[in-house]
Amino acid sequence: MSKTVLVSGGAGFIGSHVTVGLSQAGYDVVIADNMSNCDETNYKGVCAILGKQLPFVKMDFCDAAAVDALFNKYRIDAVIHFAAYKAVGESVAEPLKYYKNNLGSFLNVLEASRAHGTHVLFSSSATVYGEPEKTPVTEESPRQEATSPYGNTKQMCEDFLRDCVRAYGIHGIALRYFNPIGAHPSALIGELPRGVPNNLVPYITQTAAGKRECLSIFGNDYPTEDGTCLRDYIDIVDLAKAHVCAVTRMLEDKMDEPYEIFNIGTGRPVSVLELVKAFEKVNGLKLNYKIAPRRAGDVTAIWADPTLAEKKLGWKATRSVEDTLASAWAWEKHIAGKN
Ligand code: WQD
Repeated sequence: MSKTVLVSGGAGFIGSHVTVGLSQAGYDVVIADNMSNCDETNYKGVCAILGKQLPFVKMDFCDAAAVDALFNKYRIDAVIHFAAYKAVGESVAEPLKYYKNNLGSFLNVLEASRAHGTHVLFSSSATVYGEPEKTPVTEESPRQEATSPYGNTKQMCEDFLRDCVRAYGIHGIALRYFNPIGAHPSALIGELPRGVPNNLVPYITQTAAGKRECLSIFGNDYPTEDGTCLRDYIDIVDLAKAHVCAVTRMLEDKMDEPYEIFNIGTGRPVSVLELVKAFEKVNGLKLNYKIAPRRAGDVTAIWADPTLAEKKLGWKATRSVEDTLASAWAWEKHIAGKN
């Protein structure tokens, strides 16, 4: 009998791609989302890609009774928790909003998982490493004090999961994502930022589409080869596959420890300027950009050592940054055509 995976935040950017990956791998998937930061585009896209309707529950994970009811209704073998606010700047201005939502919802997931013996995969972030002393970072690299409440919630949720695994006999995995970008090759699901994008790639695609006048490159005086920051841009479909590998590892009892952490990145540093140039080249267009002052809070350079994920999850990034940037542009054109 196939196993059932609950995807909280399954209508969002990462959740929708993970849902497709899980379903294609043979899992039954239940999507739950309060739609606070998205519309139905990705849910409809998921169903179109899969050629079937998936169970969808509109609910808020801060509502403990609703979470309990959900776990009682479906026999859930594992939960992947994405439902959270994710704007770094907003979290600095409104820390309580972030602490209440991101911690409260995860506590409810953990409570229900304890009651039902459900395994938990948490979507963490490379932000937990702060400005690393050494690059690339391994899972053993020290976590640094968070520079935003958003980053702090990622660290705290990792700790909540570790402690609950120890105490309650469930299994847990935290995946630390680097910079997820791109879209599904079908261009039916992708990132739908509300308002002005904070992240680089949606800003690039919106500028190329004429929705934004000019991309600002935040700083070209960093101590890197071309002076712009280095990041590890991980393709969203590759990222989704890492979740399938991790869930399978949990459900097939293949974990070495009941709580494990994996970096999910490519292992390749790419500068902001390199990314912009790769976007121009692969899509055959010129991007309007200018050099602007540094953005507060940005680290100079961070990229993953993904060795552990390859060894233990059997997972490795495969899509080239060019293909990923082509998919991001295809998605931008797809949504521009709908508006
Ligand atoms: C990448 C690079 C910018 C926009 C953040 C969160 C992280 C994770 C992913 C999300 C940096 C530069 C950006 C622009 C630019 N969480 N940039 N002009 O900051 O590495 O990570 O998003 O949910 O936790 O911190 O990603 O895409 O914002 O920036 O020059 O208009 O692009 O300075 O060097 P970041 P990003």
